[in-house]
Amino acid sequence: MFKIIHAEFLAPGIKRFVIEAPRIARKQKPGQFVILRIYEEGERIPVTIENSDPERSTISIVVQAAGKTTHLLNSLETGDAILDVVGPLGKPSEIRKYGTVVVVGGGVGTAMAYPTAAALKQAGNRVLSIVGARNQELVILEKEMRAVSDAVMITTDDGSYADKGFVTDKLRQLIENGTRIDLVIAVGPIVMMKAVAEMTRKENIHTVVSLNPIMIDGTGMCGGCRVLIDGKSEFACVDGPEFDAHKVDFSVLVQRNTMYRDAEQRSLAEYRHSKSAEAGKCAVTAPQGAQA
Ligand code: NAD
Ligand code: FES
Repeated sequence: MFKIIHAEFLAPGIKRFVIEAPRIARKQKPGQFVILRIYEEGERIPVTIENSDPERSTISIVVQAAGKTTHLLNSLETGDAILDVVGPLGKPSEIRKYGTVVVVGGGVGTAMAYPTAAALKQAGNRVLSIVGARNQELVILEKEMRAVSDAVMITTDDGSYADKGFVTDKLRQLIENGTRIDLVIAVGPIVMMKAVAEMTRKENIHTVVSLNPIMIDGTGMCGGCRVLIDGKSEFACVDGPEFDAHKVDFSVLVQRNTMYRDAEQRSLAEYRHSKSAEAGKCAVTAPQGAQA
C-alpha cells in the first residue's frame, strides 16, 4: 500500500496527491509516469508524475477525474492509501541544452510538462512556457511554471483569465514575431498536440509530444498502448511516452483512445448512480461488484 501524505484539489476535478513511494522518488526523471490500481479488481491507469522528493521519499501525481477509476481515486484523502503504484515507467525526457525551448501545457497536461520544463531550465535553456485551460478555474501550476520559466504565457478558451484563445495562438505569435525556437514540447489533449505539430512542421521546428494512450501493464507486453510512429508500431509505455510530434499518427491515437468510450461512459454512469463519493472511498478497501 502507498500512503497518501497529502491530497488537495488544484482545480475542480483535478487533484494532486503526495504519496509515499521511496523507490520511485529516488529513480523518477522528468517525462516518466506511474501506473496505479486502487483496488484488487480495479483497472490500471497511467498517471502523470508531477514531482518527486527523494529526501522525503515522496512523489506527487496529478489526476483529472474523467472515468470511474479516476473519480474513485479523486475521492481519496490525506491518510488513505493506494493499493499499487508501479514506476517510474517510460523513457525520461531528453534533457540537454537546446537553446530556446517552448513548453506547451494544455489543461492537466501541464502537470507532465512542468518537471520537464524545470529540468530544461536547469540544463541552461531559455524556457518559454505556454499554459492553456478552458477557464480561469482550470489553470493549474501557474506559480510552479513561472518559477522554472523565463516567461509564461497563459491562455483561457473563454478569456476569463489572461489572454483569450488556445495555446496555439501564443505559439503562432511567437513564430510570427520571429522568436528563435530550437525545440517545442507539448503535453495535453490530443487535438492540441496535433495542432501544435501541424504548426511547427511548417516551420521545421523540432517538436516532442507526450502521448497518453490506454495502458494496461506498462511493460511493453500487452500491446494496449500501441501507437503508430513514422508508419511503425511502437509502445508508448516503453518506447515513449515522448515522441517526435511530426512522426506521430494522431488519427490512430484518437481511434484507439475512443475504442472503449461506451464502456467507460456506462461504467461511470453506473458509478455515479450507485455510489456517493463517500461510498467510493470505502470501495478502495471493500469494493462491491467493482468493475474496471
Ligand atoms: P482541455 O480540453 O481543457 O484543453 C486544454 C487546452 O488545450 C485548451 O485550453 C487549449 O489551449 C488547448 N486546446 C484544446 N483544443 C485545442 C485545439 N483544437 N487546438 C489547439 N489547442 C487546443 O484539456 P483537459 O480537459 O485538461 O484535458 C487534458 C487532456 O490531456 C486529457 O485528454 C488527458 O488525457 C490529456 N493528458 C495528456 C497527458 C500526456 O501525457 N499527453 C498527460 C495528462 C493528461
Ligand atoms: Fe502494455 Fe504498453 S501498456 S504494452
